[in-house]
Amino acid sequence: MKKICLIGFMGSGKTTVGEAVAKLLHMPWVDLDTYITQQTGASISQIFSEYGEAYFRELEVKCLKEVLEDKKSILSTGGGIITTPASISLLQEQTAIYLAYPFEILYERIQGDKNRPLAVSRESLEERFKSRIPLYEKTCSIKINCEGKSINCIAEEIISKLEII
Ligand code: S3P
Repeated sequence: MKKICLIGFMGSGKTTVGEAVAKLLHMPWVDLDTYITQQTGASISQIFSEYGEAYFRELEVKCLKEVLEDKKSILSTGGGIITTPASISLLQEQTAIYLAYPFEILYERIQGDKNRPLAVSRESLEERFKSRIPLYEKTCSIKINCEGKSINCIAEEIISKLEII
């Protein structure tokens, strides 16, 4: 059975929305970043600062494979998962849902967040955001425009779209 995988930029609510969808559908849920920290015993910031982004991406695709093999059905991913071609292929085999927001809203949410090693300058974040949009678009099966919608409303929209595909 296909897994429901939430994708989108940092701050788009992949974790909270994933949890909400899982509750409504009474399905098990896993957060990939949490899984990575549990497997390694290190925080995401520690992994980035000690080993760098390339190492984190290798770890991320390895953990994505493991989680997709497991029974967990709803998966919240990290914002940069679509920068690894192998992860894109794995997600395209599932039902990937892209939570889309304008950059301004995401920036307000993530600026200065110490737990997000890539949330540094506004310019570099906006650059990343722009370069990633086509990757989210090509990976997803469903895109949700989330601006102005509550978590519950987004979760319900996802469920209604799942029913028709
Ligand atoms: C990242 C997003 C983070 C986390 C890591 C890298 C990214 O997850 O995986 O800091 O490259 O966008 P969130 O999207 O949950 O913040």
